[in-house]
Amino acid sequence: MFKTRICGIFGINIPIVQGGMVWNSGYELAAAVSEAGALGLIAAGSLSPAELRDQIRRCREVTSRNFGVNLPVFFRHADEAAQIIVEEKVPVVFTSGGSPARFTNEFKHNGIKVAHVCSTPSQAVKCEKAGVDAVVIEGFEAGGHNGRDELTTMVNVPQTVDAVSIPVIAAGGIADGRGMAAALCLGAEGVQVGSRFVASLEASGHPNFKRAVVEAQACDTFLILRRLMPTRVILNEFAGKALEAEQAGTDIEKLSALLGHGREEAGMACGDLREGELEIGQVAGMIKEIKPAAWIVRQMLSECENVLRRF
Ligand SMILES: Cc1cc2nc3c(=O)[nH]c(=O)nc-3n(C[C@H](O)[C@H](O)[C@H](O)COP(=O)(O)O)c2cc1C
Repeated sequence: MFKTRICGIFGINIPIVQGGMVWNSGYELAAAVSEAGALGLIAAGSLSPAELRDQIRRCREVTSRNFGVNLPVFFRHADEAAQIIVEEKVPVVFTSGGSPARFTNEFKHNGIKVAHVCSTPSQAVKCEKAGVDAVVIEGFEAGGHNGRDELTTMVNVPQTVDAVSIPVIAAGGIADGRGMAAALCLGAEGVQVGSRFVASLEASGHPNFKRAVVEAQACDTFLILRRLMPTRVILNEFAGKALEAEQAGTDIEKLSALLGHGREEAGMACGDLREGELEIGQVAGMIKEIKPAAWIVRQMLSECENVLRRF
């Protein structure tokens, strides 16, 4: 088994990070991934402060390995969540969706390792200046919220590796060991995987959503709300309406009204496949089965090692 700098920094054996995913990555998934030797992340972005504290404590009860919390910087409870993370002595935080400078100092001051998720090489340089330990560079193949620049993982990773000296973690479009090997060949020292773990036994998403992911084909995801909050989703009635409104040049306020509140929860947690937001990456077409998280980690690692050996 090979190790990279991110294994040392985050105290893990396998350079795979399970990306934080609202309504999908609760403590069951994070703990299962960490138990398998990779890094599991609890998504704070869909939890109340009390729920976050509870999830962190439950995670500790079922794994003694390192795990982390993903904290979107724009999250309305971000300050309270950050305080809870410090109080509960969570060893690792992956921040995203805003300035890396907002929480990095506070976390580092409390001995917490920090990575920030970004979507362009120049943002990665800002992350390094903000003092993070590692940077996740995400291409717009990825599920969920995306950067506005629409750079792919294939072009983002090598340019980021050239631009910073901290370790780079590749995200977006990686769902198996072939993708992981490709990312390592581009200079990444680890991968962050989201969509593949949605279709895991331990993910907390609704069974309808998991089934929709397994049934999705290569061309079934679209980037919607490009001017508001670019988000990659499975095309359904809601996404179709959003695309139509955008094409018609609808203004931001009307798009916000169309998005409304609670679409993510409706789609991914409650299984409303028509009107909910079903966030998933372009790799959905490669995901054929719901598997235990540990199986996904092991399979990805052994396939990656085989591919690298072959070449
Ligand atoms: C359902 C879903 C929810 C997500 N929620 C978050 C989130 O709360 N915070 C975050 O930083 N990224 C979020 N992401 C992005 C993932 O953490 C990860 O970076 C991304 O899924 C990687 O690309 P992939 O989907 O191609 O594996 C989400 C992705 C998905 C699929």
